Amino acid sequence: MPNETLTITDNRTGKTYTLPIYKDAIRAIDLRQIKTGPEDFGLLSYDPAFLNTASCQSSITYLDGDRGILRYRGYPIEQLAEKCSFLEVAYLLLNGELPCEEQLDMWITDVTRHSMIHENLKKFMEGFHYDGHPMGMLMSTVAALSTFYPEARNIHDPGVRKLQIIRLIGKMPTLTAYSYRHSLGLPYVYPDNDLSYTKNFMNMLWRRTEPKFSANPVLARALEVLFILHADHEQNCSASTMRAVGSSFADPYATTAAAIAALSGPLHGGANEEVLRMLDEIGSKDKVPAYIEQIKAGHGKLMGFGHRVYKNYDPRARIIKRVAEEVFEVTGRNPKLDIALELERIALEDDFFIKRRLYPNVDFYSGIIYQAMGFTPDVFTVLFAIPRAVGWFAQWQEMLQDSEQKIARPRQIYTGEAVRQVVRIEERHPQTSALAAATVA
Ligand code: CMC
Repeated sequence: MPNETLTITDNRTGKTYTLPIYKDAIRAIDLRQIKTGPEDFGLLSYDPAFLNTASCQSSITYLDGDRGILRYRGYPIEQLAEKCSFLEVAYLLLNGELPCEEQLDMWITDVTRHSMIHENLKKFMEGFHYDGHPMGMLMSTVAALSTFYPEARNIHDPGVRKLQIIRLIGKMPTLTAYSYRHSLGLPYVYPDNDLSYTKNFMNMLWRRTEPKFSANPVLARALEVLFILHADHEQNCSASTMRAVGSSFADPYATTAAAIAALSGPLHGGANEEVLRMLDEIGSKDKVPAYIEQIKAGHGKLMGFGHRVYKNYDPRARIIKRVAEEVFEVTGRNPKLDIALELERIALEDDFFIKRRLYPNVDFYSGIIYQAMGFTPDVFTVLFAIPRAVGWFAQWQEMLQDSEQKIARPRQIYTGEAVRQVVRIEERHPQTSALAAATVA
């Protein structure tokens, strides 16, 4: 039996400390006992951007970035993408087990029943500019839901929590479809509860005058697979936001709106939209080598490449590449695919990318499929947010039930001025700062 401890010698004092190792980690709070004297606050661990800090224990998603493994509740993502529906996977993530037939029927009925939104929320959405970004509309509308369901703030009641989770999973496609149609000036289409989750979403997006919308089954299944792949990804930026905001016991709508905000950034979920812009900018296959040189020279990043955790091929990207072929059988090949494949081929052979272990991530190919299916790039990140809401809720529930968790409140290393005295305004000299020097357009 190995000795599961770590011995540290503080060379400032010559003192030695023995810290327990728990699941290959030490508790940062154990460092606090390491002091130079009674007045010393104790040693902190400094980890900007959480490169090497586990913020929680979680049993939801397992990810091995070096070996390219992703599992939800122990099930390999490849099997879930092949054998399950999105709502089945949602049930798994939230409940820990795959549902039996009866449980799944009940779960589908529950989620479907909550697909409608209050008519006043429609009016709220009408206030948005027609060209407002769909992520902005989604984020604000989800936050606004907290004013419709004030009981949601009772987050310690498991029944209340469950109702809000079902409500929001049911409503996310409706809110997205409404924001999409709002941007096109089209009338909103009410949910059709006879349809599956993805088929109904497609109905609300694309139905025109036909009495009943009929989604192409290959495209509906592709969307289902994409939703499964995006449903959770352990402690990423938006999940950590969900946990951090939720740790103050804010209601789930405010908390989810914060997670949507985190997802919207181009380094996170917003990357799928940026990939399409990048492929447009490149324009054709022959321009790829010059574009790569430009990236290597430090002008921007190759969007859809690289990952904080995956230092190997993202397993989701591998599945998405296969789904792309199935979608193109129906829609015709998206010409951007050739540029993307060439970009991947050259990047994977190039020392710059090899050395930094940069591989295509989930966002590299998803946008190309979405575009072929008829989505405009500004909706891509919203398509990420719909399924990710499930993961956020699983993380939020786990955080609330974890007796070790408290309000998220990191420490800092203060680098500012020591104490100063305020002088009268007429005695002050102009000072420059980056903000003051910035020019406003
Ligand atoms: N293109 C070119 N160089 C890159 C890229 C890229 N896409 N990603 C990382 N690098 C370089 C980076 O400049 C750094 O180089 P150096 O060591 O010379 O300074 C090195 O690789 C390490 O990168 P890092 O910035 O320390 O890595 P990180 O873990 O902080 O960032 C990332 C991860 C995903 C934010 C980053 O790879 C990135 O910006 N990628 C492009 C945006 C993207 O595709 N995001 C989607 C991520 S997957 C889905 C999701 O999370 O939503």
